[in-house]
Amino acid sequence: MLIMTSQWLIGLVYFFAAFLLIFGLWRMSSPVTAAGGIHVAGWGMAAAVIVSFLYVFSVSEAARPHLPVNVSLALVALLLGGGAAWWSGRKAAMTAMPQMVAIYNGMGGGAAAAIAAMELFGGRVFDLSALAGTLFGALIGAISLSGSLIAWAKLDGRINKPLHMKGLQLINALLMLVTLCVGAWLMVVMHAEHGSLNGVLWLIGVFFGCALLFGVLMTLPIGGADMPVVISIYNAFTGLAVGLEGFVLQVPAMMIAGMLVGAAGVLLTLLMAKAMNRTVAHVLFARFGGQPVRKGAAIVGELKPTAASDAGVAMRYANKVIIVPGYGLAVAQGQQKLYEFVKLLQAHGVLVRFAVHPVAGRMPGQMDVLLAEAGVPYDLIFQLDDINTDFADTDVVLVIGANDVVNPAARSDKASPIYGMPILDVDKAHHVYVVKRGEGKGYAGIQNQLFYAENCNMVYGDAQAVLVKMIEAVRGLG
Ligand code: TAP
Repeated sequence: MLIMTSQWLIGLVYFFAAFLLIFGLWRMSSPVTAAGGIHVAGWGMAAAVIVSFLYVFSVSEAARPHLPVNVSLALVALLLGGGAAWWSGRKAAMTAMPQMVAIYNGMGGGAAAAIAAMELFGGRVFDLSALAGTLFGALIGAISLSGSLIAWAKLDGRINKPLHMKGLQLINALLMLVTLCVGAWLMVVMHAEHGSLNGVLWLIGVFFGCALLFGVLMTLPIGGADMPVVISIYNAFTGLAVGLEGFVLQVPAMMIAGMLVGAAGVLLTLLMAKAMNRTVAHVLFARFGGQPVRKGAAIVGELKPTAASDAGVAMRYANKVIIVPGYGLAVAQGQQKLYEFVKLLQAHGVLVRFAVHPVAGRMPGQMDVLLAEAGVPYDLIFQLDDINTDFADTDVVLVIGANDVVNPAARSDKASPIYGMPILDVDKAHHVYVVKRGEGKGYAGIQNQLFYAENCNMVYGDAQAVLVKMIEAVRGLG
């Protein structure tokens, strides 16, 4: 009776948790409701975790002696994992969020791979469909784990250059072939031997080793501007891996959460690929072979620095201003000052709008979140497709901490690694001011011809400090 009640309750709470996850994800689709959506999904996850402990009422007689140890281990893992996540989440700076997301994503894939490893090493799966699900989940979970760790290192600036190595394409193809063959062999043997691990233990190790190495080698050559697509692919992989392991364990909450994350990851991958005007295959396989990044065309012209106050005053007397925020704005945490400056311009009758590139910053939607945090109304924020034709008719563009997303080389220089990526056509405006600290390059590591253009002035300094000077200059006019 107790067992039936607990199973009925577990099913009901899982169903409720799944509803909360879906509802939370739906609310995350708009910046207005996103914060609430995260809380709702969080409560769903908490409910699913807590109700899992009801399994203590339904364990078999044989497993009962292990119950206290298992439950204690689960609690310790929860405390350690939850505590570390709470601490690191509170401590992480806004600019470190992309790295944090990459590492959490990798952990999700790793957790799915670990579940698969437990099932395989425990000899618990021998049915063909369960074996296929477990091994496939293990493969993509392990790839997602090691690949996300490399993505984390790249986003954190610990790995600065993509790996270029002759023959890497062949090595990767062979590695994948070996992994698939070992997986197929494991399926045949473990099915025939009814889960017995006789002689296959080391093969399971080889399978995981190859998958992990593949994730590393697949991500190392991908560099510069293509990282957004890779990050979202691993997002999709992790979801898929969790969903597959949920299928193997027959846990509906895992299946639903995994499928939601997987589907969202696939959609995000397609969106990011579209934003970069690349096919996913191009991102993965063009650099997969590790071709070196070619040098772009030579830069002509000279940099023309100007004072922040002059740029501020020029915007005060303009009719139309478009602001292009980039990663540097997040680094400087200048969003509040930026909106203060915008309100000042608006008070003087200037039409001010924001133009956001889909891959600006280091995380999908990072600029939207940043501007929302400062209270910028959503109707002032325009995405690339909606505003790109307006630059030619704009008096002043303020590029603040952005670089790659406004680099005209993407339109014209076939040798450039960002060639083909749609950019914000700020160079077509009457005048452009670019705020950055010095002559640092953007994420793709290339020069920007825009900065040397006739209609462009550089305003050097930390974005927040520059904005303070601009505000003072405009206020000084009365
Ligand atoms: P970036 O091209 O990275 O340029 C940022 C610029 O900000 C740098 O040139 C830097 O120049 C300047 N900067 C840094 N700190 C600053 C500060 N405190 N004050 C003022 N300026 C500062 O940024 P973007 O234009 O936003 O482009 C994003 C890039 O990241 C793209 O290549 C994209 O593919 C890549 N990426 C995006 C994502 C996602 S999903 N959004 C994920 C991974 C990679 P100084 O050093 O001279 O100041």
